[in-house]
Amino acid sequence: MIIRKFDSREELDSYAAQYFIYIIQTKPTATLGLATGSTPIGIYEKMVERYRGGEVSFAQITTFNLDEYVGLQPQNEQSYAYFMNRHLFGHIDLPDNRAFLPNGMAADLAAECSRYDAMLAAQPIDVQLLGIGHNGHIGFNEPDRTLHGGTHVVELKRETLEANARFFASMDEVPKQAITMGVGSILKARTIMLVGKGADKADIMKQALTGPITTDCPASLLQTHANVLVLLDREAGRYV
Ligand code: GLP
Repeated sequence: MIIRKFDSREELDSYAAQYFIYIIQTKPTATLGLATGSTPIGIYEKMVERYRGGEVSFAQITTFNLDEYVGLQPQNEQSYAYFMNRHLFGHIDLPDNRAFLPNGMAADLAAECSRYDAMLAAQPIDVQLLGIGHNGHIGFNEPDRTLHGGTHVVELKRETLEANARFFASMDEVPKQAITMGVGSILKARTIMLVGKGADKADIMKQALTGPITTDCPASLLQTHANVLVLLDREAGRYV
């Protein structure tokens, strides 16, 4: 595990974007695992800037997002599909048919999970970008006695619903379920880039990176992966 700390978010975002661009330049057909949440927004902005500057093309890559809410249409502004279009896909030359997210509107959610796993198996992820939830969740893999390996439907924990309520008109509108890649799928990525920003992530980052490896903190399982790059701003890196 390599841990890098940055004095500013700007520097962190530039570094992360450069990392992805380097991967794409050296392997134009790379498969990237992408994330939502506030953490990656600055990284996506930098990637778009570099694309507009003519430094990189996304035309041949494939992307897989970690997760999606159940029951939100892609046009819903709170869906992760909408988020990805707004912050990245809508600004770059990535073909629509190679940008994958779980379909939270699928009539048969179990079949949708199997379909997603089959696609992931066919196109292993080169670099998986991850943020972290305050309870240590990655994607939507919530703390539990056991964790799932593959893509599955998850009941969101109260703290996650509360954390995400800021994006919705009321707590009642926050979807209670999501489809998420499993911890097993995440750990299959060749490289994992875990990003933490802000003082509110300092405690969980310490627990995830230096605490016991436990399903109570799903991000702690990243300690078992051979190739994890952790990027932290000064506040999130305070205790590591
Ligand atoms: C959501 C996403 C996670 C993300 C987390 C943290 O729950 N499913 O992938 O890491 O939020 O979000 P933020 O980056 O806004 O703190």
